Formats: sequence, C-alpha cells, structure tokens
Amino acid sequence: MTSVSHPSNATAQDFVTWAAETFDDRLALACSASVEDSVLVHLAAHTGKAIRVFMLDTGRLHPETYETFERLRVKYPALRFEIFAPEASEVEALVKDQGLFGFRDSVTERKTCCEVRKLRPLARALAGSDAWLTGLRREQSPTRTELSPVAPDGGSPERTKIAPLLDWTLDQVWDFAKANRIPTHPLHLAGFPSIGCAPCTRAIEPGEEFRAGRWWWEQPEHKECGLHRR
Ligand code: ADX
Ligand code: SF4
Repeated sequence: MTSVSHPSNATAQDFVTWAAETFDDRLALACSASVEDSVLVHLAAHTGKAIRVFMLDTGRLHPETYETFERLRVKYPALRFEIFAPEASEVEALVKDQGLFGFRDSVTERKTCCEVRKLRPLARALAGSDAWLTGLRREQSPTRTELSPVAPDGGSPERTKIAPLLDWTLDQVWDFAKANRIPTHPLHLAGFPSIGCAPCTRAIEPGEEFRAGRWWWEQPEHKECGLHRR
C-alpha cells in the first residue's frame, strides 16, 4: 500500500472526498446495490470526480439488483458505472463440474463458485486501481468489528481499502438514503438486510442476525466469499 495519511475524526463524506483526491482515477467503488453502496455512490457523486463504480455481475443476482444499479447509473451520470462478469468458459467448466447448484453441496464447491463468479472478476475490476471504496459496516458481522476505515486490502495489501460507512448504524444509513432520495434496493424492504446472489440469499426472520440469510446452510465461520479477506 502506498503510504497514506487519512483524516481523523472524519465523516463518511470526508473519507470519500479524501480518497477521490488522494487516488484520483486509481480509485474504484465496489457497488452491490445494497443500501450502504447506494449511499456510497451518492457520496462519490458529491466529490465532483468521475469515480469508477463497478458491480460484480455473478450471473446469479436478483433482477432487483440490476434494476437498482441501473437507477443509480441514471441518477448519477457523472460517475462511471461498469459491470465485471465471470469468464464464460470458466462458468461453463464450473457448471460442467458441479452443476448449477453445486455450491449447496460443500463449502469447497461454494468457494469455487465464488472464486469463478466473484473473485476473479474482482481482480479484473481492481487491476489498475490503487484503492477501493466498500460499503462494509462494523455492525454487519462479528468478522467486521475490528476493521479500520482505511487499511491495506487483506487480499492485495499493496492496495488500500476504504470503508467510509464503517461506524454507521443501519438506521443512519436509511435516514441518509431517505433524506437524500437515493435509489435503494427494494428487497431490503422484504426482509433482506444483506443481499448477495439470489440462490445464496434468503429473507431473515425477526431476531435473526444481519447476515443470517447469506449461505444459511453453512456454519457462520465459513460465511465470507473472499471479497473481504483480512
Ligand atoms: S460479501 O462478501 O458478503 O458478498 P457484502 O454483501 O456484505 O459482502 O458486501 C460488502 C461490500 O462488498 C459491499 O458494500 C460492496 O462494497 C462489496 N460487494 C459485495 N458484493 C458485491 C458485488 N456483487 N459487486 C460489487 N461489490 C460488491
Ligand atoms: Fe456462487 Fe452463491 Fe458465491 Fe454467488 S454467492 S458466486 S451463486 S456460491
């Protein structure tokens, strides 16, 4: 990671503005179309810079995810929206090997699917970037409580990873999104606080934890797809 000094006591907007000024066109924003990412996109637009916003299109996302991404693209034309898809030949080989739902059979097969559909496209999305913005929040998971808002990326330590909303509560995120009329993912209102690929995401019941609807058949310690290595 380049040696960087970042603002202390910064607001989320301060972090995004600082990132845009420090890394300029070598900064990218990872957008899954969650409400957190919608807020980040709004903050990015307020920097006045044409920040690159990318979605990893695994081929298994909900239709509402594409709709939300498109609404953001239309609302914030000064940003550069892109999608990164997995290589067709790799998806074909994956399905030949494990079928269309092999990820349900074992953690190993699930991680292979995430590798082909998310991690390799992520590597392409970030090639040429020195830093990326993500919508991670501490509250989302016990695996996220110890994160820093600016840190070397666990997957590629030479790259800086920035989480401007790290200390926001879910209520703060929603209040900000509503006050600023930001497009948000409709499935959040249908019991999906955390949204990934359609076959690996379900709504949660009252009282269940935030990410209980992600890979719900797996033990909690396995529930990361590898995008956020520490
Ligand atoms: S995951 O690792 O379990 O999939 P999560 O859904 O909590 O991650 O999202 C955390 C952050 O990762 C998002 O705020 C976003 O920055 C990034 N992210 C997750 N999925 C995608 C995606 N499909 N495309 C782009 N960024 C994503
Ligand atoms: Fe495959 Fe599910 Fe991972 Fe999506 S979340 S890449 S469908 S295993």
